[in-house]
Amino acid sequence: MAKPGHGPALRLARPDRSAAPPPRNRSPQPEKEPTPLQWRDTPARYGLVSRALHWSMALLFLWQFAGMGIRLAIGRSPVTAFMVGSHASVGTLLFALALARGAWGLVNLRRRHHEAGPLGRVARLGHLALYGLMLTVPALALLRHYGSGRALAPFGLPLLPGSGERIEALMLPGDLAHGLLAWVLLAAVAGHVGMVLVHHFVWRDGTWPRMGARQAGSHAPVATGAAPR
Ligand code: HEM
Ligand code: HEM
Repeated sequence: MAKPGHGPALRLARPDRSAAPPPRNRSPQPEKEPTPLQWRDTPARYGLVSRALHWSMALLFLWQFAGMGIRLAIGRSPVTAFMVGSHASVGTLLFALALARGAWGLVNLRRRHHEAGPLGRVARLGHLALYGLMLTVPALALLRHYGSGRALAPFGLPLLPGSGERIEALMLPGDLAHGLLAWVLLAAVAGHVGMVLVHHFVWRDGTWPRMGARQAGSHAPVATGAAPR
């Protein structure tokens, strides 16, 4: 007769604790205790820091594009002046947040969910392209601003004193590509959101809960075999 405790052990889904792969033939059981605040990423879910960065930046991007979109649509107006007036400050903040997010992403890279196969590679390339644009678009504008010789004081914070000297070579890349690449970034974000919708509503593969709100009462077990290394 099987002694108590000698049957197949049930195991809580705790993907971030162990370097060992999950044991086979063991069924997950719901966690009994409330999930602790998860700062770092796990294969099951992006952590608090990654999610805070993702969603705060998404809102700031929305502000940037809405301002420029409204300016294109209705031209000069008090609303346009209000929104576009913060463009350089919000853009500088986005640049700093993108650097921090990239660094945090690298630290957490091996802890995150990695989709296998060609689709996974395409998703990784897509995210890489978003990072490239998130960094390049404001970097070109900042270089242009520096080249204009004007001081840089985002939200009134004196970051760079103006040299007063205009350097055309530093302004040219921004003149040529800042606006253009910004619209490419908007198209890439639209593709990204489109793919998230396909994952969620067509493939129903649990992509959304990794970045979005956890469903009430769900302490979902790890659906992936990818253990953090
Ligand atoms: C309504 C808007 C958005 C939704 C619904 C959304 C949704 C998501 C979801 C569900 C993931 C997880 C994907 C996975 O684990 O495979 C994700 C990741 C990601 N999203 Fe978004 N997203 C939005 C806006 C944005 C914007 C505006 C950007 C950047 C400009 C962005 C950049 C990224 C990146 C780079 C990742 C990879 C994880 C990371 O490094 O942060 N997303 N997004
Ligand atoms: C990631 C952050 C940023 C995004 C998404 C963004 C987006 C845009 C977009 C969509 C336009 C309109 C292009 C057009 O007219 O077709 C634009 C123009 C511009 N941006 Fe940015 N930008 C960002 C950061 C910055 C920063 C940091 C600065 C300055 C330090 C800046 C300065 C400008 C200027 C001077 C223009 C031209 C405005 C005009 O024509 O009056 N941007 N940006």
